[in-house]
Amino acid sequence: MIILAFESSCDETAVAVVRNGRELLADAILSQADMHALYGGVVPEIASRKHVEAIAALTDSALAQAGITRREVDAVAVTYAPGLIGAVLVGVSFAKSVAYALGVPLIPVHHVRGHIAANYLAFPDLTPPFLALAISGGNTLIVDVRDYTDMTILGATRDDAAGECFDKAARVLGLPYPGGKPMDALARQSQGGKYVLPSAHVEGAPLDMSFSGLKTAVVNLAHNAQQKGEPLDAAALAHDFTRAVSNELVPRAMEALAQTGRTKLVAAGGVAANSIIRADLERECQKRGVKLYLPPLRWCGDNGAMIGAQGYYEYCAGVTADLHLNAYATMDIDK
Ligand code: KG4
Repeated sequence: MIILAFESSCDETAVAVVRNGRELLADAILSQADMHALYGGVVPEIASRKHVEAIAALTDSALAQAGITRREVDAVAVTYAPGLIGAVLVGVSFAKSVAYALGVPLIPVHHVRGHIAANYLAFPDLTPPFLALAISGGNTLIVDVRDYTDMTILGATRDDAAGECFDKAARVLGLPYPGGKPMDALARQSQGGKYVLPSAHVEGAPLDMSFSGLKTAVVNLAHNAQQKGEPLDAAALAHDFTRAVSNELVPRAMEALAQTGRTKLVAAGGVAANSIIRADLERECQKRGVKLYLPPLRWCGDNGAMIGAQGYYEYCAGVTADLHLNAYATMDIDK
């Protein structure tokens, strides 16, 4: 089954062609990050407009890359939640019109389910059940994936997502948007151990997380140093900050593995590209004999391929939508 998949929930317009949920035939992505970098973060209205400008031509190039005609498309999949509402709406509206014009089923896909499914493309042997650590710019979740479309949230951030925290901390260190990648490079220039940063515990919910205090601590540290005219060791702070984020994520993922007895851990989302977090996950999983799946860097960030992969399994589970399909800014992954 050949699925044409659309992703437009933030600042990447992405169109992919995926066969049977596992084989990537085309992956066309147009990032708007340079444009939003001028403002230090994503400007939602600009994001929507740029998606409108890009999506039709990107579809043509995805079909050309796959070497197929429109008539060979069996179904259309699209991110319908969560994300910037105007941005998601562009993908949903376009996907609806394509599905209608081609007379093929329309498959709604939850964005974070897509992030997890990127691993199906990278690892042919990966099948549920497994535990997923989904860490992106808008979401931070520990999810028990019982089956391709049957999942439960075990832990979640109570405030900011890990990626949002990276982006804001990077901004006060003078790094460009999106800050995760430059922060990663800066952190690797130091051994850290210089700055003491807070960690959070949510009473009665040990797998839940909080990043807003950590974000504020880094902002305050940088501002205080600036006001007092004291030098800031940016590389050490980047390292200590990343270590603090990792210390929120990795022990909780290990605790969730212990609680559920799962033997496979899947990482997903933009923050899963972080080299320190990847190394911590590798070390801790190895200690416990847990098989770890780390997606290749190109499939950590937003892409259409992951929507095509998850779309296939949603379709197999009987999930399709009619032309009343709407876009949603928020939605739980287990709904
Ligand atoms: O998954 P993604 O592309 O978009 C969402 O679905 O949100 O994630 C984007 C986030 C941004 O916050 C970006 O700074 C972060 O992922 N990111 C990283 C790294 N690469 C991207 N964070 C930490 N380390 C990285 N190497």
